[in-house]
Amino acid sequence: MQQLRVIEAVGVAHRLVRLHLGVKPGEQVLLVADPWTDMNMAWALAGAVEEAGGEYTLAVMPTRHEKRATELTAILDAGLERADVLIGLTAASGAPTYSRKVAELLGQKRLRAMSMVMRSMDNWTRGAALADYEELDRLGHRLADVWAAGSQVTITSAAGTQFTAGVTKDPVMGHPVIVECGIAREPGREAAFSDGEISQRPLAGTAEGVLIVDGPVAKIGAGDDPIRIEVRAGKVVAVEGGQRARRLQQILDTVPGADHIAEIGLGLNPMSLRNGDFEEEKKALGNVHVALGSDLFYGGTHACAVHLDMVIRDATFLLDGRPIVQDGRVVA
Ligand SMILES: [Fe+2]
Repeated sequence: MQQLRVIEAVGVAHRLVRLHLGVKPGEQVLLVADPWTDMNMAWALAGAVEEAGGEYTLAVMPTRHEKRATELTAILDAGLERADVLIGLTAASGAPTYSRKVAELLGQKRLRAMSMVMRSMDNWTRGAALADYEELDRLGHRLADVWAAGSQVTITSAAGTQFTAGVTKDPVMGHPVIVECGIAREPGREAAFSDGEISQRPLAGTAEGVLIVDGPVAKIGAGDDPIRIEVRAGKVVAVEGGQRARRLQQILDTVPGADHIAEIGLGLNPMSLRNGDFEEEKKALGNVHVALGSDLFYGGTHACAVHLDMVIRDATFLLDGRPIVQDGRVVA
């Protein structure tokens, strides 16, 4: 029955290729899957690219785990030089999103990219997928300007998060704050699907405080055991909690550089479900995510084998003390 989902995938794929990515006749589109990918998504996208007059190449790369989770293959790195559009569909890792080569080509405005890594057909057809993406993109750009004009981010939550970080001013893909709201029609733009967030890497060494991670975590999943993470000078210095905390500690102990605070992301999608799926929940309006590990995608220089998103639910996001998102509403 799983194969029947291709019926639902076709409509979404056409919308993504034509409206979200604006694929034009003659463009080269590279689709990257892995053995865990739901191929209904890949097949539907390939058909939609062809129908739009583009040329697709569908590549399957190996399953990657913690050790090399941000690395593509050498052949894909070379092939990207000739691609206009990259669509990442790997399900075991986020390699097409977090690879060094992709960051470089986006920075040079030689590529546009859409990330559907670690996502399933559910992410395509429910919840966040059903938002008004043109509206979301406008909101994302407006709030990105507000964020970039500030100097300090504060995140708080009723569960006990109390965290601050300096605002980075260097542009990445043309702006200090990255807008990922489902639309990537120009070279240098990047989006995901489903989507709805703005993010940046914090100013080096300035992240401080306590995160209470009560939402899902990449690679670890959801649970009712909040993880308490203490951060000093941009690095994790202590982890406490239950089973999920022990799993996180194990990653920190075995993956060099995973203790680095790489990203702060503000969810903006009012349609996102609270279903324990980190890719769905991190985009939710009212949730904030903080990521550990590689910050290359965010314009940094900290390479690491993982990029680990951690969702903080029902958070307040402030800039220089002024609330931007509070109680699940945009107030700026
Ligand atoms: Fe993010």
